[in-house]
Amino acid sequence: MATFHISTLGCQMNQADSLKLSAGLQELGYKDAISEDKADLFVINTCSVRQHAEDRAYSKLGILRKKREHGEKFHIVVMGCMVGANTKDLRRRFPYVDLWARPQEFEPILDLAVMERDVSLGELGAFDMAKTYAKPDGPTAYVPVIHGCDKFCTYCIVPLRRGREESRLPSDILDEINFLADNGVKEVTLLGQTVEAYGHDLKEETNLAELFEAIEDIHGIARTRFLTSYPKDMTDRIIDAVADCSKVCEHFNIPVQSGSNAMLERMRRGYRIEEFEERVAKIRERMPSASIATDIIVGCPGETESEFEETLDLLERTQFDVIHVASYSPRPGTFAYRKLDDDVPKDLKKSRLHLIEEIHASSAEKTKSAELGKIVEILVEKKTDDQLTGRTRKGQLVHFNSNASIGDLVDVQINEVTSWSMRGTQVGVFDLPILSI
Ligand code: SAH
Ligand code: SF4
Ligand code: F3S
Repeated sequence: MATFHISTLGCQMNQADSLKLSAGLQELGYKDAISEDKADLFVINTCSVRQHAEDRAYSKLGILRKKREHGEKFHIVVMGCMVGANTKDLRRRFPYVDLWARPQEFEPILDLAVMERDVSLGELGAFDMAKTYAKPDGPTAYVPVIHGCDKFCTYCIVPLRRGREESRLPSDILDEINFLADNGVKEVTLLGQTVEAYGHDLKEETNLAELFEAIEDIHGIARTRFLTSYPKDMTDRIIDAVADCSKVCEHFNIPVQSGSNAMLERMRRGYRIEEFEERVAKIRERMPSASIATDIIVGCPGETESEFEETLDLLERTQFDVIHVASYSPRPGTFAYRKLDDDVPKDLKKSRLHLIEEIHASSAEKTKSAELGKIVEILVEKKTDDQLTGRTRKGQLVHFNSNASIGDLVDVQINEVTSWSMRGTQVGVFDLPILSI
């Protein structure tokens, strides 16, 4: 039987796309090779958000080229955000790649896969990729609800590679979530680059809050998560729905990127820091225990010392639970690449990055310590012998010993905190949360 292997780089959106492709290939009779050593079809699902992500794809390609040189026979497909409208340059640099496919461009990959088997897609009975759902491999699953991005922040490649915002129909999404629930999934994470933009582009306009409410009625699903939030799109209606829907986890991922208004303007983020803080205040007013994560970029074009200090001040004032920090990486094709100088010296970027990493480490520690002694609900995601691992509603990783099973919701008392995770003791097991009627 023909086999495939998919390497996935980048964000949750790519992970969801890879699973979908994997489901499509399996429909065609291919088998997941699991091992990275040998397959008939290798797919690299790439990310372009920073140079480092692209470099990882290049090194994977280098390994495949060597295999080819040793006489092994297989196809190589590069898909995802590294692939733009024009692949001429890439084709020239990597002539041994058989196929380049943009994000979500599954058909040519499936065509290549069937060609290999000497049959046509028609003979195999065409199937609709839009309705081909990946069989879940655990109790959690990602569900993209809105593709693309319309925001065009000046530094960001995503809109150029993933295209304009396009929401899926609520009926499609709910069908998929029902399918997932029937196959043992307890927690779904709704995905979008700006997930609160969901629904505005549909003929029958809807919004994320309505989607949350519809998921409340899906039997089997115990938790709903969502990412990524965009401060401007985060309406009161959505924040209220997070607070009111019992399944929706009070965990927000809201990238702020910078604490300086001048910088936010250069980034064309479309909000002022006061508006961002007002949104955070609203969340904390409705859900005092909500956990809030953010993203920061340091060293964007023109970032002065005082602008950077404004970011530090914001972090001090806001006390995020998690801070993802990255150093600015110029992306060819973006506005910043074309029009703004990458003028913050490398060393300065590095020291700003380290400073924020330290702040992150200490806030993460603080957030975890605040859980000491508390009883929290864990969804068990992994089990090795009697050692279980799962996450709290806030997304924190917890280890504990018990004979519970993967997919169980378990009450655990936290009694130990390390810099990476938390440990606890089980206090009760139940199948599903009590559904509100
Ligand atoms: N849609 C989300 C996330 C997009 S990409 C948002 O609005 O923020 C994920 C993260 O990568 C971003 O939050 C940003 O912090 C980082 N990022 C994007 N472009 C970057 C670049 N050119 N250099 C460094 N970091 C970047
Ligand atoms: Fe990129 Fe901005 Fe869109 Fe996020 S909102 S994906 S940072 S352009
Ligand atoms: Fe990377 Fe594309 Fe995601 S650029 S971060 S894989 S949307």
